[in-house]
Amino acid sequence: MAKPWATFGVDLHLEPTGGGVRRGLTDALREAVRTGRLAPGTRLPSSRALAADLGVARNTVADAYADLVAEGWLTARQGSGTRVSERTVVPPTGAPPRPRQPGRPTHNLVPGTPDLASFPRAQWLKAARRALATAPYQALDYGDPRGRVELRTALAGYLSRARGVRADPEHILVCAGFSHGLRLLGAVLRARGARTVAVESYGLDVHWDLLAAAGLRTVPLPFDERGTNPGELTDQGAVLLTPAHQFPMGGTLHRDRRAAVVEWARRTGGLVVEDDYDGEFRYDRQPVGALQGLDPDHVVHAGTASKSLAPGLRLGWLVLPPGLMEEVLAAKGGIDSCGSLDQLTLAEFLVSGAYDRHVRAARLRYRRRRDALVAELARRAPRVHATGIAAGLHVVLRLPPGTEQPALRAAAWQGLAVHGLHRYQHPEAGVERRDALVVGYGTPPDHAWSTALEALCAVLPE
Ligand SMILES: Cc1ncc(COP(=O)(O)O)c(C=O)c1O
Repeated sequence: MAKPWATFGVDLHLEPTGGGVRRGLTDALREAVRTGRLAPGTRLPSSRALAADLGVARNTVADAYADLVAEGWLTARQGSGTRVSERTVVPPTGAPPRPRQPGRPTHNLVPGTPDLASFPRAQWLKAARRALATAPYQALDYGDPRGRVELRTALAGYLSRARGVRADPEHILVCAGFSHGLRLLGAVLRARGARTVAVESYGLDVHWDLLAAAGLRTVPLPFDERGTNPGELTDQGAVLLTPAHQFPMGGTLHRDRRAAVVEWARRTGGLVVEDDYDGEFRYDRQPVGALQGLDPDHVVHAGTASKSLAPGLRLGWLVLPPGLMEEVLAAKGGIDSCGSLDQLTLAEFLVSGAYDRHVRAARLRYRRRRDALVAELARRAPRVHATGIAAGLHVVLRLPPGTEQPALRAAAWQGLAVHGLHRYQHPEAGVERRDALVVGYGTPPDHAWSTALEALCAVLPE
């Protein structure tokens, strides 16, 4: 087995600098020698060991070493390996090279955003024109803290038709994305005296942090091959779930478990918060209906335009159980928080059918990417298993044990931004560690998708 970098007693951190793997590595090593971080005479690891440690090709390391030998920074001798030169090397230009900043990744497969380059600008502009042309001048005044009635009405129609939500405009609150809605719900729960909120073993730390900021401890529920197990729900004030498409693992909450969650809420008076962040994007069958449809008195249905359109719009919505609106408005401070023109534009976008057309086109585009990803994996990385592929804009790639960190290091050197599964695991989750990457295939623009896929395949274990 290759000896790790640390075995050589060299305490050196090499930061990918962008501009290509070979050039980045050469620059980083040169900089380490020039600044004395690698002392004269220090023996460097073999190209094989360093390549394994950094997750790059062995030839890349050998080439970087050869370049630095040619420049005089390193020496290579048969039998004694590659060492830092004993003599001081004067940089050829006279001026010391400035350390390069870590490069911006060239390829972005971080889950979370849709393909922003495909935002339907022309249709949005058309809706915005029409909304502005037809809005009464009072629409420019301070507004209803629940949001514009035109948008709440359009959402009620869309959500009941497309997502099976039982919604009427009186119980819908427009908010600045799901995270804003969650912050408001956190404040309501705390004001009600709740101390804990049950969450899934896998999720987003920003959401756990928002609840923590409201004074609520998040307690992870067990997770197994059937997804999140609500069996351990007890006296928590609420449970936060992604029932249609678990984030990031990708499964659908099983029918029995959906029923069990609702039964718990009825029995204890706890609140179910349904984060329906990408419910529109299902590829294998009709979208899974909203959990809220089972019990609108106990489930808050939370949606967002962040995946279907763009997170920059900062538009989301809560469909609230009767009686909760007053408390949420109190938490909101009685103020409106989303621009009325954007709200009116989204209302027009929904009512005109442009939203449905956009979602259908986007679904097709993402489905093609997903199919290409799955086919490429089967060909190039058969040991990697893609899960959660039936829906959404991301997949989880299960890796052979022990290969997540090397793959992430290799990705950094390839200029590929991608996340490991471990960063989505709740710190108190009692789940076994799984090596996996969470790959957001919706993120790159169309023209960059195939090179991003190529970069991904290059860092996966074969
Ligand atoms: C699990 C999950 N929930 C919700 C959201 C949307 O959050 P927001 O509406 O605040 O942009 C995202 C977006 O990445 C998400 O991944």
